[in-house]
Formats: sequence, structure tokens, C-alpha cells
Amino acid sequence: MITPQTIEQIKNRIDIIDVVGEYVKLKKRGANYLGLCPFHNEKTPSFTVSPAKELYKCFGCGKSGNTITFLMEHDKMSYVEALKFLAARYNIEVEETEASPEQKQLQQASDSLYIINNFAQKFFDEKLFQSEEGQNIALTYLKERGFREDIIKKFQIGFNPSQRDELAKALLQNQFNKELLPKTGLVVVRNETELIDNYRGRIIFPIHNNTGKIIGFGARVIGKADKAPKYINTPENEIYVKSKVLYGSYFARLAIDKANECLLVEGYTDVVSLHQAGIENVVASGGTSLTTDQLRIVKKYSNNLTIIYDGDSAGIKAALRGLDMALEEGLNVKLVLIPDNEDPDSYVNKVGAANFQNFVEKNKKDFILFQLEVMLKDAGNDVTKKSEVVNHVADTLSKISKAEDFTKLQEYIKQCSSVLKIDEGGLTNLVNKLKRDKIAKDEKRLPFEEANFILQQTQQPEDVLDDNFLLLNQDEAHEKNVLRVLLEYGLRNWDEQKTMAQYIFEELEQFSFDNIHLGNLFNDYRTRYEQGLQPDAKSFLYHPDDTVRNLVMSITVFPHELSQKWDERLEGMNIVNRDVSHQDVEISISFFQLKKIKKMFEENQREIEHADFEKQKRLIDIHNNLKEIEKKITKKIGTVIMK
Ligand code: CTP
Ligand code: MN
Repeated sequence: MITPQTIEQIKNRIDIIDVVGEYVKLKKRGANYLGLCPFHNEKTPSFTVSPAKELYKCFGCGKSGNTITFLMEHDKMSYVEALKFLAARYNIEVEETEASPEQKQLQQASDSLYIINNFAQKFFDEKLFQSEEGQNIALTYLKERGFREDIIKKFQIGFNPSQRDELAKALLQNQFNKELLPKTGLVVVRNETELIDNYRGRIIFPIHNNTGKIIGFGARVIGKADKAPKYINTPENEIYVKSKVLYGSYFARLAIDKANECLLVEGYTDVVSLHQAGIENVVASGGTSLTTDQLRIVKKYSNNLTIIYDGDSAGIKAALRGLDMALEEGLNVKLVLIPDNEDPDSYVNKVGAANFQNFVEKNKKDFILFQLEVMLKDAGNDVTKKSEVVNHVADTLSKISKAEDFTKLQEYIKQCSSVLKIDEGGLTNLVNKLKRDKIAKDEKRLPFEEANFILQQTQQPEDVLDDNFLLLNQDEAHEKNVLRVLLEYGLRNWDEQKTMAQYIFEELEQFSFDNIHLGNLFNDYRTRYEQGLQPDAKSFLYHPDDTVRNLVMSITVFPHELSQKWDERLEGMNIVNRDVSHQDVEISISFFQLKKIKKMFEENQREIEHADFEKQKRLIDIHNNLKEIEKKITKKIGTVIMK
């Protein structure tokens, strides 16, 4: 892990205008900078960058973030890569924390596996292009299949000689750890101590992770696979986890981003051939059903997934199994079937790139409707089977659950009920019922989703200043708002004695947060503050935990978002000093307190209804007390607003 000190150093040096300015032409506009958004197509600039807050936000497409997330989104770097990239740019030495012994061992094992794979790839490369067997048999075979040399080199395809232990010998000669070697799958142990090559006489397809490191290999027999399996793949180890890999993702990521579509095929050779034809937004699943992790890789680059399989492949069934997950991930899934026993590799070689692309465009079928048609055909006139189909479709549709997918869902319901010849309202009811059942089942949400959920549910700060300001009903807005003012003004002075942060801590002493993430953030801030660390929003924007980063991002307000509202409010009030921080803090704190008091009030009310006479008397005292406090706070809010 990169140390907090290093992160702090990087944070202090970052100039968002400098970094983002390399990708977007920025013009100064007041305190902010403005340019054309790099994340969506636009003609009038709505991409705004605030150097003071180190944030950008596009008021067209809504994308927002800081320098790190910009690099992550735009250049598809990981969090650590982005930090290291910036460190290098500003000549900051990166300090990494001492890992625990277990972590270290894991790290060392992973490092060694990468090094061994790298060595093996060079070995395979040399054997393919330099050795006689490689040239005569392997390279000839690849060329006969139509692979060009430049594309073979790009994908680092190689050859493992057919002799028993050529690679094993080379590895041992280079002093690689004998215990570790079998883990790579490159060699296997024979007769207890002897190491022999595992991929003898096979063409080797290296498998890269998203950053281009080789994590494993797929090894194909040359020619027909009669006796041996067609492919042998790397066994799972510290760096190769099959469910998290999509073959080709490293080579495809920029093209997927650009096309805003990811093509999914079954095999290694499909990916390579499509690249050769100039179609680069393509990855392969390896013929198994898609996993959530694989779908997440796709989703990182695009929401549009087009599955291209051969017409009668067993892979379709496997892919169909991944459909529900894809819907849950909010992906738009389309399907294209390649005819006549061809697969994408053979088909593109047969018809050429342009025809292939045409075919794909013309034959894209919506996955849900495709599935429906197949099932309906199976069901025929059987009434029971047909009602099963209805249930199945409703179940599939109930997986489309993201708020932003609402229109999509309605459209599907319309189309499916028309295909099924059933009542649209009935299908809607069924889908809604299944959705409710599902929600009841998933009480447990993942932290990331939780953060997103808050983001969606919480009001923007201007709502807090709404005319009906006492009717705050969205539950976490007040909690979020307290954190906003804490992060924003915490280090300023409240009065001569204390800072805003200290004032806020005092005022909230009696209260707690309902939202666990906001509560944690509050405590985290407090701890850092008490350690004298001078925390602000930026300190958390570079937090290693992406839940925290997302949360802080959703809390932090862009300068003019708030000030416009304030300006309207304060207009004509002859306010010379535009520093509204005191009012902002006071209102936010008061709303928070008021909300909590109201809740206590309601709880108390409920208790009164069930209490005996003696207890009721005590509860009524509390009731009156709370009423008093409520009055005070309400009055205070009134005066602050009027001030
Ligand atoms: N596969 C595998 N093991 C096998 C067969 C297949 O892992 N024994 C995986 C490979 O990732 C392969 C994919 O499934 O790329 C698709 O299999 P298939 O269509 O049989 O192979 P192709 O990739 O099309 O290879 P080729 O074009 O050389 O026949
Ligand atoms: Mn093939």
C-alpha cells in the first residue's frame, strides 16, 4: 500500500488544471475553468473544473471527480496506477507501507509468477520465430490460418517445442524457484522430482490482465485435436483467477471506450482475427458462462455488450446463463449469431471486415427478446409451458432494477407483452411483485452500492434551503449536509476560541448518525482532526477506499452550485461579506438536530401510547422538553435565514 504520507504529498502537488488541461482545452471562467467534456460529445462546453476544490464536473453528462478519478476514467488507470503516475510527474518518491508477512509472501509469490510468465513468453516467442520446429510447424500453421506476423507479435503468440522439457530446463537454468514453477502451469512434476513441459508442441496465447501483464496462457494443439484436449489453460493461482479474466481486455479497452460497445466472443482466435480485421473492441470469455467480475470489466468501459457466438455453439447456453447478471449490472445486451457452423474467426476470414461488421449491425438481436422467442417456440401451444415462459420473462425483467433503467424496462414490458399476446398491465404487476420480493430478500447491500444509493437518495444542498425548509423528509440529507460543512469549513474559525470543526463536534455531541458510512466518515474526520492533521475534503478524495472517495465526492459541492442559491437568497440584503460559512454551518447543524429531535419525538410518542400511567407522566415530560428544544432550533433557523 502507498503510505498516507506519500498520498498527502501527491495531493499537495496536484494541479487539476495542469493534468486535465492536457486532455481538455480549458478556458478560465470566473473561479472555474470550462471546456468540452471528454466523456460525452458536446458542442457547447459544460465541463467545469474548479482548481480550488480540485474537482471537475460536467453539467451535461453529470460525470464528476478529481484528478485521480479523471485519470482512472479517462485513461483507464487503476487507483494505484494513477497515484504512481502523478508521483512520477511531480518527482515524488513513492513510499509503500510494510506489508504483513502473509501479504508479503503473497506479493512475492505474485511477483515471481509474473516474472516467470514473462520469461516464458520470451522463450515461446523465440521458439516460434527462431527455432526450426517453430518456423516449420507452428508459424506455418498460424500463417495458413491467415494470421499476419504483426498481429502474432501484437498478441505475443508463441510456441512451446514438442521436446519433453526444453522450457523446464531453461527455467531451471535461470534459477527460478523449483517449488513455485508448477503453480504457473508451464511445467508439471513427473516421477516426483522431475519437471517437464506442460504445453509440449502447442501454440501459446499469453493472457494479459488489464494493465498488460501476463497472468497466464492458453495453449492450443496444432491442427486437429483428436487425442489431447484442444486447449490447456493455466491453473488458478495468485495471479490467474479465471472468473476475473476476459481475454483481450488489455488490447480492447481503448477501442471499447471509443465505440462505446464491447463485443464478446468465445475464443482466443476470434479475438485475434477480429483485431486483425481492424475490429478491436472485442474480448473473449473462453466459452464459459460470464461471471459478475467479468461483466464489471466490461462495464468499466461501456454499458453496451454485444455477444457474437456461432449459431449452434454450446456457448450460447452458457452465455444465456450470464444474462440475468448482466441485466443487474445495468448492461444493454445484444446477441448476434454467426451462421453455417462458422465462428467469428472463420467468418471474418471468409467475408472480410466490412461484411462482418455489416452482418453484426444487421443481425443484432435484443437478448431478452431473443430468449423470449426461443422459449416461446419451445412451448408451442402448451398452456402450462406458456405460463412458465411468462413467469420466466417477468423474472428476467425484474432484474432490471436500476432507477435510470426505468424507461428501458417499460419498453421491454411493452414489447414482451405484445410478443406474448398478454395484457401489458398484468405483466407490469407481475414484474413489480417480483421486484418487491427481491428487495425483501436482499437486505444486505454492498458498501459500494450503499454509497451509490445515498448518492441517489440524498437531496442536493439547495433543497435544504427550500422554502419548505422545515419539511425535510428525505432521510439522510441532513446528515450529508453536516459532513459537507465539516469538510468545507472545518478548519476555519468559528469564533476567537474555536474552529468550525470544534463547534460542530460540540453541537453534535449528543447525536449519532443513522447512515453508517456518513457516521464513519464523521468519526474518521474527528480522529484526524484531533491528531492535528488538518483534514479537508481533499484528504478524503484521495482515500484508498473507493466507497469513501465516492461518498466524499457526492458530498462536496461545486462552488457555483451552492452560491447561486445563496446569491438569490441574499440578494437585496446588503451583505458585503460574502463569506456565508457561519450561516451555512448553523443551518446545517440546526437541521441535523431538528431532524434527530423529531425522530426522538416520534419514538417518544409511540412509547406514550403503550406506556402505563406512571411511565406516561415521565414520557410526557420528555415530550415537552423535546418540544422546547424543537422550538428553539426552529427559531434559530428562522433567524439565521433572516439574518
Ligand atoms: N476452450 C478451452 N478448452 C478447450 C476448448 C475450448 O479452454 N478444451 C476455450 C478457449 O478459450 C477457446 C474457447 O473455449 O478459445 C472457444 O473454443 P473453440 O471454439 O473450440 O476454439 P477456438 O478458440 O475457436 O479455436 P480454433 O479457432 O483454433 O478452433
Ligand atoms: Mn475457431
